[in-house]
Amino acid sequence: MYVYRVVKRRQLASAPCIVLLEVEAPAVAAKVEPGQFVIVRMDEQSERIPLTVMDFDREKGTITIVIQDVGYSSAMINSMEEGSHFLDFVGPLGVPSEIENLGTVVCIGGGLGVAPVYPIARALKEAGNKLISVIGARSADILILEEEMAAISDELVIATDDGSKGVKGFVTNGLEQIIAQGTKIDAIWAIGPVVMMRSVANFTRPLGIKTIVSMNPIMVDGTGMCGACRLSVGDETKFACVDGPEFDGHLVDFDLAMKRLSFYKDEEERAKISKDC
Ligand code: FES
Repeated sequence: MYVYRVVKRRQLASAPCIVLLEVEAPAVAAKVEPGQFVIVRMDEQSERIPLTVMDFDREKGTITIVIQDVGYSSAMINSMEEGSHFLDFVGPLGVPSEIENLGTVVCIGGGLGVAPVYPIARALKEAGNKLISVIGARSADILILEEEMAAISDELVIATDDGSKGVKGFVTNGLEQIIAQGTKIDAIWAIGPVVMMRSVANFTRPLGIKTIVSMNPIMVDGTGMCGACRLSVGDETKFACVDGPEFDGHLVDFDLAMKRLSFYKDEEERAKISKDC
């Protein structure tokens, strides 16, 4: 049996606790593509949770994930030390991002969404696109992966709700700034909280800018069986974990998605534990 060893742990923020883990998983690293996710289980008592891949190294055979403490399982994973192991690390799952040279693309990551947008942004840059990135957070102390995003982007715009870094406001304010400069945008990837993706999609719809969103936040089991990630996309019913996680943001019924997201709120609240970051 293969053991999925944590080879690197880096704390990205402390309140909320956000941790980056690089994990040995050679079979997953050999095949994974930007936009895909893995399902991890820490030990026999843990639940399986789907997490989008932040990075991969095919030579080292590692996958990097970023986890924010939002409840019991994520708190337990965030407390894992280097040298500890996951019991299961399954993947790659989901449909990879469609990467091609489109011209000028904007990659938007809000909160934890900066992690999954990173490999997509890098692949788009490698495909020849001009890459403008917009990353945002509530405040500068919980803004993640700024250096990594700056290293791959032609231009990086930062937005914080409280104005402690970059543009004061939301990622949509950062996007507005780019458009105001007269930049012609060929496509946008927006990944973050559902409410953020809805705002970006509402902003770009009248402008006719193709906008891809990742519906990873509404997934629960990630296997197509629980039904929690059912979405209405245009006039079709889709499952984020099987048909996505990426969809045309102009066609997603975000109100329905937000309702689904709150289904397990009470259970999540009851299961919350306090752990040092
Ligand atoms: Fe359960 Fe998609 S997450 S069906």
